[in-house]
Amino acid sequence: MRNHRGKNKYRESLNERKILLVATGGISVYKSVFLVRELIREGARVRVVMSESATRFVTPLTFETLSKNPVRVDLFDQRDISSVPHVELASWAERIIVAPATADFIAKMCAGIADDLASTVVCAARCPVLVAPAMNDGMWINPATQRNIETLRGDKRIIIQPGSGELACGDIGKGRMAEPEDIARRIIDSFAGERKLGGTKVLITAGRTEEDIDQVRYVSNRSSGRMGFALARQAMNMGAEVSLIHGIVDLPAPEANLVKRVKTAVEMKEAVLELFGDCDLFFMVAAVADYTPALSKEGKIKRDKDILTIKMKKTDDILKRVCKMKSKSQRVVGFALEADGGGQNAMKKLKEKNCDFIVLNMIGERSGFSVPTNKITIYDESGELLSTPVITKEEAAGIILKELLADRE
Ligand SMILES: Cc1cc2nc3c(=O)[nH]c(=O)nc-3n(C[C@H](O)[C@H](O)[C@H](O)COP(=O)(O)O)c2cc1C
Repeated sequence: MRNHRGKNKYRESLNERKILLVATGGISVYKSVFLVRELIREGARVRVVMSESATRFVTPLTFETLSKNPVRVDLFDQRDISSVPHVELASWAERIIVAPATADFIAKMCAGIADDLASTVVCAARCPVLVAPAMNDGMWINPATQRNIETLRGDKRIIIQPGSGELACGDIGKGRMAEPEDIARRIIDSFAGERKLGGTKVLITAGRTEEDIDQVRYVSNRSSGRMGFALARQAMNMGAEVSLIHGIVDLPAPEANLVKRVKTAVEMKEAVLELFGDCDLFFMVAAVADYTPALSKEGKIKRDKDILTIKMKKTDDILKRVCKMKSKSQRVVGFALEADGGGQNAMKKLKEKNCDFIVLNMIGERSGFSVPTNKITIYDESGELLSTPVITKEEAAGIILKELLADRE
């Protein structure tokens, strides 16, 4: 079991958040290299756009190596004709941080100028934009720069004030770019309004179980762990304290506050029963075997029969069990995977097990197990609450959590 409860509270707080760094041409662009490292440490996904001038100070390769993503500079560099780079980058980003922001770039932002990739991406942004100015103190106190900063504030840009001290030019004064850790902190803080699950303890199960037939063979299913992991990440992004119990999975598990790995249905049940009492919200996403071989054999079953019969016995129903234990304030969400008669079966499951919500996934080409997409319908005791087209599992996770929050309000 990995337990991260003791960690610095800012660790992983940008878990999978998409941050676009726009680096413009000031000497302090070298500090933005450390900023990228800091953001990656916090768990963010980082992409970088540089102005032409910025590349005179630090090479794109440095940012590419640290961010593990290609760096874009040229507005007309159409590597991928299926998308327009400035629009794609702007809509990808959840936050844009302009660091360093030169006096020139700040002026361009104010005027809405879009004459290179960096300025065009910022102009096309719909997400919050943070700006970390860096310049010589003369440039900083220049009335035009100060006017521009006020304009940006009025435009709801978040200004990260420069500090005072020795400047790159040797002068002492105000204009030093804020330190990378402080900029990272401001980016983290900018998500605070979205932390609607702050103080909420969420328990999630994900992945599949494996039931041994003998020492080399097992019975399992095709669950990849994606849906549960997406929920864990979204819940963490919304400020929840997340405990994750996962069976066998195809992907690395997110670094939740507590991560427990299990193999069999019995281990899954024990882990859930151990942690359930301490959670506010429980998501039973894991695909736990309904049946397990009645007698798992030592060694290896011989290939000496034409027809082999393996007796299976029913496993314990974890969802039903926890629903019997749940207190008035706890909410339990079950997941159902159906091939047909989905709605009726989902409502039957909800009533039989007495859970608060059922999320139905239909088995389909782009929905259900082993694919990154899903098509979900959410039910509560009153019936169907909402239904989605095929969407990513990340999107599905967001919709599920939003629906539960609406129930709490
Ligand atoms: C050595 C050197 C250092 C510079 N440092 C800064 C700086 O810290 N801040 C700034 O606003 N401009 C600085 N400049 C000026 C910018 O590079 C210049 O205004 C450029 O046009 C900015 O282009 P951009 O905003 O497209 O990146 C510096 C120029 C040089 C040659």
